[in-house]
Amino acid sequence: MALHKGQGRGEDERRLPVSPLHVLTDPLGSMQLAPPLHRLPRVPIPPPVAYQLIHDELMLDGNARLNLATFVTTQMDEHADRLMAECRDKNMIDKDEYPQTAELERRCVAILADLWHAPDPAAAVGCSTTGSSEACMLAGMALKRRWTARNADRYAAGARPNLVMGVNVQVCWEKFCNFWEVEARLVPMEGERFHLSAEEAVARCDENTIGVVGILGSTFDGSYEPIAEICAALDAFQERTGLDVPVHVDGASGGMVAPFLDPELKWDFRLPRVASINASGHKYGLVYPGVGWALWRDGEALPEELVFKVNYLGGEMPTFALNFSRPGAEVVAQYYAFLRLGFGGYHAIQQACRDVAEYLAAEIAKCGPFRLITKGDQLPVFAFTTVDGCPFDVFDVSRRLRERGWQVPAYTFPEGRTDLAVLRVVCRNGFSRDLADLLLADLRRLLPELERQPAPLSELGMPQRSGFHH
Ligand SMILES: Cc1ncc(COP(=O)(O)O)c(C=O)c1O
Repeated sequence: MALHKGQGRGEDERRLPVSPLHVLTDPLGSMQLAPPLHRLPRVPIPPPVAYQLIHDELMLDGNARLNLATFVTTQMDEHADRLMAECRDKNMIDKDEYPQTAELERRCVAILADLWHAPDPAAAVGCSTTGSSEACMLAGMALKRRWTARNADRYAAGARPNLVMGVNVQVCWEKFCNFWEVEARLVPMEGERFHLSAEEAVARCDENTIGVVGILGSTFDGSYEPIAEICAALDAFQERTGLDVPVHVDGASGGMVAPFLDPELKWDFRLPRVASINASGHKYGLVYPGVGWALWRDGEALPEELVFKVNYLGGEMPTFALNFSRPGAEVVAQYYAFLRLGFGGYHAIQQACRDVAEYLAAEIAKCGPFRLITKGDQLPVFAFTTVDGCPFDVFDVSRRLRERGWQVPAYTFPEGRTDLAVLRVVCRNGFSRDLADLLLADLRRLLPELERQPAPLSELGMPQRSGFHH
């Protein structure tokens, strides 16, 4: 839960006991410290004690490398660590104070504009963000503002803008629609269609549509949405109706995968209808959290009035962001990753992830009781479910794998296929073929026990625990 309630007075009594081994001087006296959990301690405590208390509690967190639920980078090299430590006191917004960090951000935007085939990379505009969620909010705001400018009278008269997307969008799009008062037109899943189709998207567009969001690729199963088909269908829609509906591509993960592994796939600014793209630097961009990117094909796609000017070397520097202060370290780390790996390095890493994903998916399919929903051949991510008549379900598998430290989330699909529950594996840099074999060995070892269950535990009254993380 991200929102926390304050603790009541009774809870205030909970204290952290201090071991005499935690301090060098007066070890027995330290036992009297016992700082409260939910109030500031009255006096300072020695740093090693505070460190040890926190360190010990954090041992209960899962092992990030065994977390196959997250898309977020869990491994960087020591040079990245060093650069990040050197930059942890730099505030990204202080362009005047840290002009070179600002310059590295600008280079990253230029690199992405080139990678995503902006027709005129010099005209493309973009910025770093805290992640894809913020980038999506910014892109959505630009779409809304462009629509409002074109429909000022109708908007003033009460027309309600809408955004068309698949029900499989990440929650940030529902947040955007809620926060910025835009109707979310979510296309449900149907049968074996687990994401948006061109036909379904166009069917929901009208004169109040600010844009269509296409996802590369879906958080639910790693599949790429058919961006080029969606754009072509919207071209035909414009010919029929005169309505020009822009497309935003949510490339949170795929924006850093497709350029390296699927160069022929047209999903980016090569498609004239694509107005903006976002990606998470901290997913397949290979940087620790949190950095994201938002790019617009040109100045026209990003209304000028949304951009604020901050002081920069005595001049003015345009910024577009929801927050003000933000760490500079992740942006520097993104530039490090681009510089250090180059195209060849990113290609090799993403290919290795895809190879592991495809291998693991194929081996899991061979186990017998599972059916693949996706094969790991788009994002290096795949989802699978249990076959009919199985005495266990995906929640049982997730729970049992957890016993060995593997975090493999199980969750139910959204509207249209709420009957389908899946497990999902995200293969990231650092999840080697060797680790994949260890996961397989654990899964195979578990199966005979799972097969002896009389029925899925959820049917025996044990609640399902959904672990949908990203
Ligand atoms: C398709 C998609 N969009 C947006 C997001 C949100 O990204 P972030 O966690 O970088 O805010 C995610 C996260 O998984 C995602 O998969």
